[in-house]
Amino acid sequence: MKKHTTTLAVSMIALAASVTASQADKLTFYCSAQEDWCQLMARSFEEATGIDVNMTRKSSGETFAQIRAEATNPKGDVWWGGTGDPHLQAAEEGLTMEYVSPMRDELHDWAIAQAESAGNRTIGIYSGALGYGYNTELLASNNLPEPACWEDLLKPEYKGHVQMANPNSSGTAYTTLASMVQIFGEDEGFEFMKGLHANINQYTKSGSAPIRAAGRGENTIGIVFMHDAVAQAVAGFPIQVVAPCEGTGYEIGSMSIIEGARNEEEAKKFYDWALSADSQNLALQVNAFQVPSNKGAQTSDKAPDMSMIKLIDYDFVKYGSSDERKRLLQKWDEDVSTLPQ
Ligand code: G6P
Repeated sequence: MKKHTTTLAVSMIALAASVTASQADKLTFYCSAQEDWCQLMARSFEEATGIDVNMTRKSSGETFAQIRAEATNPKGDVWWGGTGDPHLQAAEEGLTMEYVSPMRDELHDWAIAQAESAGNRTIGIYSGALGYGYNTELLASNNLPEPACWEDLLKPEYKGHVQMANPNSSGTAYTTLASMVQIFGEDEGFEFMKGLHANINQYTKSGSAPIRAAGRGENTIGIVFMHDAVAQAVAGFPIQVVAPCEGTGYEIGSMSIIEGARNEEEAKKFYDWALSADSQNLALQVNAFQVPSNKGAQTSDKAPDMSMIKLIDYDFVKYGSSDERKRLLQKWDEDVSTLPQ
């Protein structure tokens, strides 16, 4: 009996110790990049550190809304990926934490500039240019002309053939809206969005869904980041990638630690690890063709060549500010999304 009691006591202590260890060594990871990349980042970090990762993939605008809804009782620790604008808005609203990583010296200036503009509450992890892609077979079978510019997408013959995400949920689609306002001016930019609305067959939740649908032959033209269109072409689908002739906007995909994170130390470990060249090179395993922010990380030779694309001087400070993002989304909701199609 005594022996049993001792064994029981020992195993209870062991159990208590393992519960404490597992409570300490975990990370709740909100991810807004592509699903398979999110999975790979989570599993690779677990392997590298032994920290258990609980990952959820949601689009950039959705994750921002979730973090805001949870602000009084934060559940997430780190938010990795997704367009920079909602990360900047989260920083401005104090939803994310100031942190200066020892890895920062390894990064390109554009990634550091993102951090500096946000009081070090976020940082750049990749960049990529906006554009669109189309299914060449569907285009031909519908006798449609090859589009080359943003304005081309307004042609009546494309009615029902264009898909983009909803800018409220998706960072890709918000980048589209903000880019049109910057390329054409606010009034003309909204006229463009209204004209486009007439041709849209569906507003998806996630940014890359329209080009994945085009890859499957369920949609003709998808407005997405060019690297998402390249990924479909590399996967063997008949997708042609377009850098629109007027010029285009781009994203600085970002990462932030959530203010009040329950697992702050683990979040910082993830943050430092995710800025290393080795972990950024994981992108190549999942056909993620963004430009990495670590100067030593590899950019795939299939990635869109940013130096050949006419990029606008996207004003991240303005379009990532709380007031401006709210204002543009509200205006889109009221003036564009309600129009008949
Ligand atoms: C895709 C792109 C990323 C981008 C993300 C934004 O995954 O590859 O570069 O940051 O979309 O997602 P969202 O669903 O918010 O548009």
